[in-house]
Amino acid sequence: MTYEHTVPGELGDPAVRAAEVAEPGAVTLVVPTFNESANVRQLLHRITESVPSRLPCEVVFVDDSTDDTPDVIRAAAQDCPFPVTVLHREQPVGGLGGAVVEGLRAAASEWIVVMDGDCQHPPSLVPELVATGERTNAGLVVASRYTEGGSRAGLAGGYRIAVSRGATWLAKALFPRRLRGISDPMSGFFAIRRSAVTAEVLKPLGYKILLELAVRSRPRTVAEVPFVFQDRFAGESKSTAKEGFRFLRHLVGLRTATPAARMAVFGLIGASGFVPNLAGLAALTGLGLHYVPAEILANQLGVAWNFLLVEQLLFRERRAHRRWWDRAGRFALLANADLVLRIPLIAVLVDRFGMAVLPATALALVTTFVVRFVGTEALVYLPRRGTAADRTAPETAR
Ligand code: GDD
Ligand code: MN
Repeated sequence: MTYEHTVPGELGDPAVRAAEVAEPGAVTLVVPTFNESANVRQLLHRITESVPSRLPCEVVFVDDSTDDTPDVIRAAAQDCPFPVTVLHREQPVGGLGGAVVEGLRAAASEWIVVMDGDCQHPPSLVPELVATGERTNAGLVVASRYTEGGSRAGLAGGYRIAVSRGATWLAKALFPRRLRGISDPMSGFFAIRRSAVTAEVLKPLGYKILLELAVRSRPRTVAEVPFVFQDRFAGESKSTAKEGFRFLRHLVGLRTATPAARMAVFGLIGASGFVPNLAGLAALTGLGLHYVPAEILANQLGVAWNFLLVEQLLFRERRAHRRWWDRAGRFALLANADLVLRIPLIAVLVDRFGMAVLPATALALVTTFVVRFVGTEALVYLPRRGTAADRTAPETAR
């Protein structure tokens, strides 16, 4: 990583302090950039016009570009009346969210505003975000498209609008308490007090850094300010379909921070395995196979399906300590043991303990399910001490 101060002077600089007007404190604008060379000059120009006269500011770009964006920033910074820093990362760990966390770590001012580098977020709103935070004593102020007076005008096309709406609804349904009072948890434009930043607990994954912050370390008071999402000044969105899948993984990761929640997701994945299982059974018996071997084979299809989903969604970060065939073998063994053990267990419950068949079956189902979940977590995905963290490859942006 390279730190470069292109314009001398810090926020503590008396020359910068002199510009201070009504609002107390100062603000660092954290701007993540990936190949935004056609936008950064315009952005700095708009910041210059609307921020320093009302609030002393400094700008930190966290850049993962493969083009000349850092050079363009350096050149444009010469005309800026505030310090501009480019923090170029060699490895784009965590993508956009990872870049923002780097910026949060680097910032030293009382307030930090995170905004995009493509001019979709109007800098003229920055003083108002900070002023609202001061007035309401909030730790986090979200610029929202979905509160009265806000709009998503710049969101291109019906498809993007539907996806954004669906994602917002899903996130709010999964985290009703944490996201209360946040109408736009997908927003990439927000102000946060430095004292409310807990960079060490954040595990950013892709675009939704505000969601990460709100769910993992929500400040006690949160405020919102409406804003109109502008058109991109130049270039194209860097968001892809892959980013959509990453968002789903991010949601699952946030939702499964506790063992109880992990068990629930494990159960849901298991239930979804009925689909390939039954489809396989229909196909195999259709081909004329006897139903007993067909059952056994079809069950393996369900096991494979569950394994894939569990690997991709639930234990993605806990795989590094075993090879994939080792994990697959253990997983399949546990899944089949579940089936093999269930019938004898039912027999014991009925014959030895005099239970009726139905409750005995239900109890056996629940028991083997819990045993299977605990077994899978412990025997397949529990990292051996001191090894997993060292070997987990950091996730890169693209
Ligand atoms: N450092 C870094 N690394 N910056 C990145 C990366 C990355 O891997 N990917 C994207 N960026 C930067 C872009 O250069 C831009 O400045 C900003 O992050 C937003 O990227 P866009 O590609 O313009 O995103 P968008 O307009 O589709 O999405 C924005 O609006 C969404 C709401 O609809 C973002 O603000 C999202 O966070 C937000 O959810
Ligand atoms: Mn954008």
